[in-house]
Amino acid sequence: MRYAILDCDPGIDDALAIFTLLAEPDVEVLGMCATVGNVPVETGYRNLRNLAALVGREDIPVFLGAALPLVHPYRFDSLVHGEDGLGGASLPESAAPHTREHAALATCRLLHDAPGKVSWIATGPLTNVALALRLDPSIHEKVDRLVVMGGSTLRGNVTPAAEFNVWVDAEAWRVVAESGIPLTMVGLNVTHQVALTQEDYAALRAMPGKAAKVSDRMLDYYEGVYRREGWGEAKLHDVVAVLEAVHPGICSTVPCHVLVETSSPLTYGQTVVNDRIQAEDANCDVAMGVDAAAVRKRMLSAIASF
Ligand code: RIB
Ligand code: CA
Repeated sequence: MRYAILDCDPGIDDALAIFTLLAEPDVEVLGMCATVGNVPVETGYRNLRNLAALVGREDIPVFLGAALPLVHPYRFDSLVHGEDGLGGASLPESAAPHTREHAALATCRLLHDAPGKVSWIATGPLTNVALALRLDPSIHEKVDRLVVMGGSTLRGNVTPAAEFNVWVDAEAWRVVAESGIPLTMVGLNVTHQVALTQEDYAALRAMPGKAAKVSDRMLDYYEGVYRREGWGEAKLHDVVAVLEAVHPGICSTVPCHVLVETSSPLTYGQTVVNDRIQAEDANCDVAMGVDAAAVRKRMLSAIASF
């Protein structure tokens, strides 16, 4: 059995990543945490609870995390994921009892109590992750890998320099990148290669299950945004990171030294990736390639299983 903790900002691609993670038969998800990002943290927390309930996993504790980035004000924009974060896909309200522990503290406890090393997965801004590492640096010892969706070896998506998860809280990303934790970065340079085909959409629409119906509704909204904004096909960013965490090798990675810009008004949130280093100087394995077909196939199979 392998163990995982997810920190996310659901968000449509986060929701698809959650379905994908929860369908993994030999991964025990110890907890899921909401962070500020695509939506205000309270919305993300509610979505996380309801997504878990939809697929019958109210046994997994869900925790409310940081409401604001570490330093800068939070700038919310409902464009990409909708006001509710799920493109208007209405889900039944979870009846699970509310937790009262902050996500950063819960993450530290879950890591210390875990029966083995944990795959820590982050698909939103790293505010909770940075807080946990600052509160208790010894959690390092229980982390197999921290796999994050974020950054880019090429251009950003919020600005030409910055990818959204880093742009929301670059200081948090810097804390994590400089912490020494075993880090894998799954950036836009690979996630931009992963989008469903028309055949995939047809297969999804033909699926009878609840997760498929919700996914179809979310993707209909998400696809529409991408089309109207001229961004091409709707990218499955967070699904790639989750699958790299639970199926290492679905991405090809290179040991690099990654720095994050936190000062420049022009390039705030840029991940500067140096692959021309000695292996011992690396602080991050950076995804450079991805088996996009395998990602699509595994995600659809996961959704069909609920
Ligand atoms: O830039 C893409 C990332 O930002 C994804 O995690 C998406 O959910 C948003 O959080
Ligand atoms: Ca996300």
